[in-house]
Amino acid sequence: MPKRTTPNKPPRPLRAAGLMSGTSADGVSVAFVDVRGRRVRLLGHLDVPYTPAFRRRVFELFDPATSRVDAICRMNFQLGEIFAGALNAAAKHCRVPLASLDVIGSHGQTIYHCPPARGRAGSTLQIGEPAVIAERTGVTTVADFRPADVAAGGQGAPLVPLADWLLFAHRARHRVVQNIGGIANLTWLPARAGLADVLAFDTGPGNMILDRLASLITRGRLAYDRDGLLAAQGRVCPKLLAHLLRHPFLRQRPPKSTGRETFGLPFTDALLARSKAMGISPLDTLATATAFTAASIARAYRFLPSWPAEVILCGGGARNPTLVSHLGRELSPARVVLMDTLGIPAEAKESVSFALLAVRTLLGQSGNVPSATGARHHVVLGKIVAGAGLPSNRQSLG
Ligand SMILES: Nc1ncnc2c1ncn2[C@@H]1O[C@H](COP(=O)(O)OP(=O)(O)O)[C@@H](O)[C@H]1O
Ligand SMILES: [Mg+2]
Repeated sequence: MPKRTTPNKPPRPLRAAGLMSGTSADGVSVAFVDVRGRRVRLLGHLDVPYTPAFRRRVFELFDPATSRVDAICRMNFQLGEIFAGALNAAAKHCRVPLASLDVIGSHGQTIYHCPPARGRAGSTLQIGEPAVIAERTGVTTVADFRPADVAAGGQGAPLVPLADWLLFAHRARHRVVQNIGGIANLTWLPARAGLADVLAFDTGPGNMILDRLASLITRGRLAYDRDGLLAAQGRVCPKLLAHLLRHPFLRQRPPKSTGRETFGLPFTDALLARSKAMGISPLDTLATATAFTAASIARAYRFLPSWPAEVILCGGGARNPTLVSHLGRELSPARVVLMDTLGIPAEAKESVSFALLAVRTLLGQSGNVPSATGARHHVVLGKIVAGAGLPSNRQSLG
């Protein structure tokens, strides 16, 4: 939003923490920011990984055939504890006292995402109980950002474009912010963009297929293809790549969003079965899946009004050199740069975005971008749990 539309701009910066756990379910990313009007200053950032055992329990929730309501209920609270613990650790690491925070924005862990489609209303579910976070930290906590957009007819995703616009819109250059998490999503920021010019949508798989293949190839020793070293040893199979590129999500016009429901374990199991039948080794399958991930991202750029001059990479996939070198070729002549070179670590951008969204919610300002999600209108996102200060400082509330 331009400054003039925010009459209740506070006199001092608001300090916010953002907590993000994405579809990779690899852990919690925590960021601290000071926000004043359109100015955002990153104070610090820390990634706190889930333990392998806890990650397995999160994955058990994803499968509708085996997921149980008692497990979801318990994990909602346990994730709240994990998020509060990660925030505490990050506060110490970054030397940002919890008492200095005005608000926490917690995305939560998506366990199911079902965007609206022809004849089907949308729904989405993030867990990680904000009442637990507010209780442990004493800080007002905003969570559940996606449902308000879905209720207004939107995809509920991506929700980061407003932050991308505030942080990265450029006066002279057409830019794309390309996030590669479990799922990949882009934000189109044409030169001198107003908020209504911003487009954003999921481009398809990010690291999701690659993580699963790397784990299978190494018999669980690696949770992901570290530095793309495994994929670099394999050979891309053009026939398998051509098959993958026929996936209908790639042809679907934006607004669109996707998730584990489409590119999760069943997708990768089917891919492995096909490659086995074609006589393709697991390493070559991973090499091909890496090329597919890059190509599916590049295909999405055909939906943009023009080709960007610059693509800013963020998310954990930006740390996979094999994937990034495919992307460099696929996105040419755009200049592909790491977000770190612009002052925000590639891992921190999503948590920064949810810190910003929480500030907007606190101020009663909208956070979705209808041109990105397809929602009928702007909405204030999230649900607010009031913080009452830390228990040790609390008077009786009676
Ligand atoms: N050094 C690395 N080499 C290759 N891939 C990496 C590296 N670091 C992180 N990743 C990838 O990034 C993923 C996590 O990215 P993240 O942005 O947190 O995704 P999400 O938002 O889905 O949680 C990991 O699962 C892994 O696939
Ligand atoms: Mg993550």
